[in-house]
Amino acid sequence: SVKACLFDLDGVLVDTAKYHYLAWKRLAEELGFAFTEQDNERLKGVSRMASLDILLSIGGISLEEAARLELAERKNNWYVDMISKMDRSEILPGALEFLQECRNNGIKVALGSASKNAMTILNNTGLTPYFDAIIDGTKTAAAKPDPEVFTLGAAELGVSPEECIVFEDAEAGIEAAARAGMRSIGIGSEETLGKANLVIPSLEHMSYRRLSELQA
Ligand code: G6P
Ligand code: MG
Repeated sequence: SVKACLFDLDGVLVDTAKYHYLAWKRLAEELGFAFTEQDNERLKGVSRMASLDILLSIGGISLEEAARLELAERKNNWYVDMISKMDRSEILPGALEFLQECRNNGIKVALGSASKNAMTILNNTGLTPYFDAIIDGTKTAAAKPDPEVFTLGAAELGVSPEECIVFEDAEAGIEAAARAGMRSIGIGSEETLGKANLVIPSLEHMSYRRLSELQA
């Protein structure tokens, strides 16, 4: 049976995927090449430095470590600027209601995010109190599709992988869930998230009842 829900943050609970995209796009343009929304799909769920490496490969640019760190920091400063102005209005539709429903029905809740900015976002949007465990980019060594972030979350909640459902908007996250031995629900399009056990357009389409049906 399902005992815990593990949530990705960016693009699942909050509308920050657009800010990541805007910041990466700005960086690409400064470097002299275009960066499309389709390119951006490859960066979702991927750590900051790995994202930069993908972006640079799209632009056909190779740089040494120090220059790459500087670019990642430049992108992050723009991103931090954008998320510092966030509030509850940027919680995605259905997210708050579903988190509340999980709490009311004794389903444990963990965050499983690659972001080092997760705490800022959770605090600015008022989401922090909904979590029993928070695993973010400051606590993990390996990035999705490595299962570490979800494995750590389940361990902190004291549940086994079969008892977990992962909610993800990124292909890398769906793969991480599978590698952790967990079922997953993709938030987004069937086209990119086809490997999930179920794909829904948003958490508005999720409820405790629907979660219970999965248990059957
Ligand atoms: C999430 C996002 C990625 C982002 C990563 C690291 O997984 O989906 O787009 O690159 O977190 O975020 P950070 O805030 O640490 O740069
Ligand atoms: Mg995401």
